[in-house]
Amino acid sequence: MVTINGGYNIDYDTINVDTEWNDSENVELTMHTIHAYPAKFPAFIASKAFEYAKNEGVKINTVADIFCGCGTVALESKIHNYDFWGCDINPVATLIAKTKSCDYDAKILDKYYSNINKAIAIIKFQGDEYNNANERLRYWFTKKNYIDLLKLYQAIELIVDDGKYKDAFKCIFSSILKVCSKWLTKSIKPQLDPNKKEVEVEICFARQYKKFLKAVKELGNSDSRVEVKCQNFLMCKELPKVDLVITSPPYVTSYEYADLHQLSSLWLNYTDNYRKLRKGSIGSIYYNSEADIDMSKLNNTGREIVDLLVKSDCPKAKAKSVARYYLDMQDVVKRSALMLNDGGMIFFVIGDTEYKGVKILNSKHLVESLYVEGFTDIKIGKRTISKRICVPFRDSNGKFSKDKSKKQIYHEEFIISGRYHI
Ligand SMILES: C[S@@+](CC[C@H](N)C(=O)[O-])C[C@H]1O[C@@H](n2cnc3c(N)ncnc32)[C@H](O)[C@@H]1O
Repeated sequence: MVTINGGYNIDYDTINVDTEWNDSENVELTMHTIHAYPAKFPAFIASKAFEYAKNEGVKINTVADIFCGCGTVALESKIHNYDFWGCDINPVATLIAKTKSCDYDAKILDKYYSNINKAIAIIKFQGDEYNNANERLRYWFTKKNYIDLLKLYQAIELIVDDGKYKDAFKCIFSSILKVCSKWLTKSIKPQLDPNKKEVEVEICFARQYKKFLKAVKELGNSDSRVEVKCQNFLMCKELPKVDLVITSPPYVTSYEYADLHQLSSLWLNYTDNYRKLRKGSIGSIYYNSEADIDMSKLNNTGREIVDLLVKSDCPKAKAKSVARYYLDMQDVVKRSALMLNDGGMIFFVIGDTEYKGVKILNSKHLVESLYVEGFTDIKIGKRTISKRICVPFRDSNGKFSKDKSKKQIYHEEFIISGRYHI
């Protein structure tokens, strides 16, 4: 990590890769792998950030992740005995994050599991459940798998008491939906595979349950308090005071998170139309038209990038969504400052992208935002994203691809830290 002296106008391309922040040799705890989540960062980033903050003199009691995703920082905080507060706008994310960071009794889990299986065996449907199903679910699931999943879902609802055990079984249910659907296995984005072989729901559920049980047994109990909220961070009314924020914000022009989680959000009844969940999602191209954008509030970096996009042949809606994104990120930094105790530290993991030849310098924009909000001791490092967790190229249609001849996207990302003194 290098300290940025004299402002944010440095050449971000010349920052060297800090190998310490690259991959870790350690195998992740099973609990970190109970449910796939796009853009999940590796767990060692959180534990490394704890170590780094402590070496810089931060006294850590409470940690926050304001875009907590599937709860990587939540679980690492719990393991390290720090209290944790997190939020994410995506209900699927917060279900996973909550599940990962609770303590469970293996005997109670086993009892529920056995009773769920007994219930499945006796559930019978009278009507035509498949034809009456949500149209989108019929699109993704064969009749057989839809019916088997419906029995499983109803059995969970019937057997498991509300609370953390129900959440855990719903999370296990959610984690098998992609494999049980016609969604192309290799694709993060929604893509149908008409030739996909049908799998047995019962076998997938049994396998995932076993994995979850193993994850529970690997972990010891912890006294730390974990709070995970399903909320739009920009609208949170009550923000807690914390010593350390570790987060990886959404990227502009990247994923539509709501679309990626449509199987779970439809099955778990979070919505009847997954598109509705795009609302408020930072970086979503679909939500910029809802409000007028006050370009005068953009910081210098934000304005320069948006101006370049407007001058290029970039569609107006795209340029507008980039402007919206930068304004939102400025707000994110302002709100984070309000959360930090005196001497607290913030820690962002973020990458740059490119659109129509224009560099979308998220890192530079973030560093400037930190300066503007009065953060000090701002440091930056670069890490290489492991090939295992990233598909780093895009084809001419903007689709993710592993083909090296295609356009390379963020294969490197930045770690940016700053201190806040009240
Ligand atoms: C890069 S991911 C975070 C992944 C996380 N570090 C993990 O390991 O799972 C960014 C997250 O920001 C969330 N997000 C987007 N807009 C948000 C908003 N307005 N408020 C809260 N969360 C939001 C997305 O749902 C997504 O989970």
